[in-house]
Amino acid sequence: MIAEKNKVYEALGYLENQFPDFRPDALVVLGSGLGDQAREFKPFASLDYGVVPGFVNSTIAGHEGTLFLCRYQGLALAVMSGRVHLYEGRTPGEVVRNLRVIGLWGAKTAVLTNAAGALNPLFSTGSIMLVTDHINMTGENPLVGENVHEWGPRFPDMSSVYCPELRRLASGAALDAKISLEKGVYMGIKGPSLETPAETKAFRKLGADSIGMSTTLEAAAARHLGMRVLGFSCLTNKNLPDCMAETSHEEILEQAHKINRDLVTLLQETLPRISRLDA
Ligand code: HPA
Repeated sequence: MIAEKNKVYEALGYLENQFPDFRPDALVVLGSGLGDQAREFKPFASLDYGVVPGFVNSTIAGHEGTLFLCRYQGLALAVMSGRVHLYEGRTPGEVVRNLRVIGLWGAKTAVLTNAAGALNPLFSTGSIMLVTDHINMTGENPLVGENVHEWGPRFPDMSSVYCPELRRLASGAALDAKISLEKGVYMGIKGPSLETPAETKAFRKLGADSIGMSTTLEAAAARHLGMRVLGFSCLTNKNLPDCMAETSHEEILEQAHKINRDLVTLLQETLPRISRLDA
């Protein structure tokens, strides 16, 4: 944990030095195939993860690995195009390191977006789900090991991970933007293999509405830091155990690109409302 902590502060020191007049209010993480949209937030700076010492780079197609700094409608935004996953062979600490850096830099809110499969049979491919809660099925947790007390408590409360106030704001934003927004529970798995029909049936029985390979560790680390969390799943495919269709990563990316427009509109409607929350 000490090595992990040092890396976090190395990256934080670099960013604070390079951008002394900038302190993010919110972090937006754009998931698989969704990263192109960062430029919609009018960034004034973009940094490849590789140039920030201590930052962890993504190795996956559909994850660019660029940090954008933006001033958008009164909100200072750090937008991450590209995230790090357990299935890349990364440790839980590495998966959440970039988020921790931005949280410690000042971001009070983390907006986590992901591409996900729909487990709820009533949800359609191409729609967006507001995450109301999650099930961490990865078997991993970024808070394991010696606790860093400056970051948060040993046993952080998880009774309300996805901020009810932010969820209300997002629902209102979706209504105003005429975007239909499903609501449900996200299940995070380690991957990289997709689910078997039996797993799909089991996960649905456990209460999940969408499934993907990210978000749950980030949400735990963000709550540990005391950040408010908002989550959106872009439903790229549908998993019905009794008539499983084949799914490929390419297909997931293609669908994610199609949902991009709605996701950006939703974020553009929601983010300015977040700034009012802190006013
Ligand atoms: N399962 C797991 N992860 C995913 C899926 C899925 O069906 N779709 C997009 N990410």
